[in-house]
Amino acid sequence: MGRDGVLKPMDAEQLRENAHKMVDFIADYYKKIETFPVLSQVEPGYLRDLLPHSAPDQPESLQNVLDDIQAKILPGVTHWQSPNYFAYFPSNSSVAGFLGEMLSAGINMVGFSWITSPAATELEMIVLDWLAKLLKLPDYFLSTGHGGGVIQGTASEAVLVVLLAARDKVLRRTGKDALGKLVVYCSDQTHSSLQKACQIAGIYPENCRALKTESCNDYSLSPETLEQAISNDTASGLIPLLLCATVGTTSSTAVDPLLELGKITKMKEIWLHVDAAYAGSACICPEFRHYLDGVEEADSFNMNAHKWFLTNFDCSALWVKDRSALIHSLSTNPEFLKNKASEENLVVDYKDWQIPLGRRFRSLKLWTVLRLYGLENLQSYIRNHIQLAEKFESFVAKDPRFEVN
Ligand SMILES: Cc1ncc(COP(=O)(O)O)c(C=O)c1O
Repeated sequence: MGRDGVLKPMDAEQLRENAHKMVDFIADYYKKIETFPVLSQVEPGYLRDLLPHSAPDQPESLQNVLDDIQAKILPGVTHWQSPNYFAYFPSNSSVAGFLGEMLSAGINMVGFSWITSPAATELEMIVLDWLAKLLKLPDYFLSTGHGGGVIQGTASEAVLVVLLAARDKVLRRTGKDALGKLVVYCSDQTHSSLQKACQIAGIYPENCRALKTESCNDYSLSPETLEQAISNDTASGLIPLLLCATVGTTSSTAVDPLLELGKITKMKEIWLHVDAAYAGSACICPEFRHYLDGVEEADSFNMNAHKWFLTNFDCSALWVKDRSALIHSLSTNPEFLKNKASEENLVVDYKDWQIPLGRRFRSLKLWTVLRLYGLENLQSYIRNHIQLAEKFESFVAKDPRFEVN
């Protein structure tokens, strides 16, 4: 507070004092996280009765706010970071990721163009090059070539921007009237984010092919099924646009055979997007890297560092082979954003690689994760999880009530 009792916009000493209290509060939360029921037990609308109907006229103390968090907010939290949380997918945070997140909030810049904070753009490029190398992605995904990496908020945004890029690339060739002929392929195990992307991109619902995986007992997409669908579509005058293959599907961690699928998409000039949102992290271990064999044929590749890579939500890494396709679809150049570095084409302006204009300094948290853990620790973290999963599988296999496929 200032002497007049008013909270100043950003006062360093005030920050120090309050942030220490906040960190203590969060650290205590982590200490007792296992004592909470993982799934919040509240009923819909519970919070409205507990909080005032309008914002306060006068400032309140941080202690009051923390007391309310303890008494009213935490009961309504589902504890994703609890060791007892096993729903949806891992969403592992870490001290390193948290510290990076603090830095990002602390610096609080809005790095849409290089000039708005050069370090934000340049660190993002470097960190995504580092991660691409850990995953042994093809060199053309590196920022030194025609492609490059960008941090999106989520895998849903990643698939949307590549679908827009792929769509516009084809429509530039065929003319805009062909929109109704464009076909998108995936398997019936593909995450619903692709369907949402199709809705936004204007792909006709009848042209979204969720190909059946039932012929394969591992829930992967069979190349023959894809080939058949493509030839049926081309015979009917439709235009195959994009295949979304998954490495680690949400329901069963099925892996689509990238090598065979990639040969088909290359031959038919279809954009291949690889969604490795969840399982991609495992591919930093040499023994699991084979799941990405064939990624060399991909036009884009996505992995969520906020799933299984110890990086606090949100941080979704997307790499594209040809950044100009993205920029073609997503760039705008209003007067107020013009600057010398951009005009002279000397820099990357990430505003042209994403839907929003504003963007956070997310690379800081990925950078702190990579530096404070190092590759070897990250690999042992993944290996430990996989060993635990195998142990669990052995328990289930011994139980006659279950069948392990
Ligand atoms: C394979 C896969 N793709 C996409 C998504 C969507 O992720 P996001 O919430 O980052 O959009 C998920 C989330 O579970 C996923 O597992």
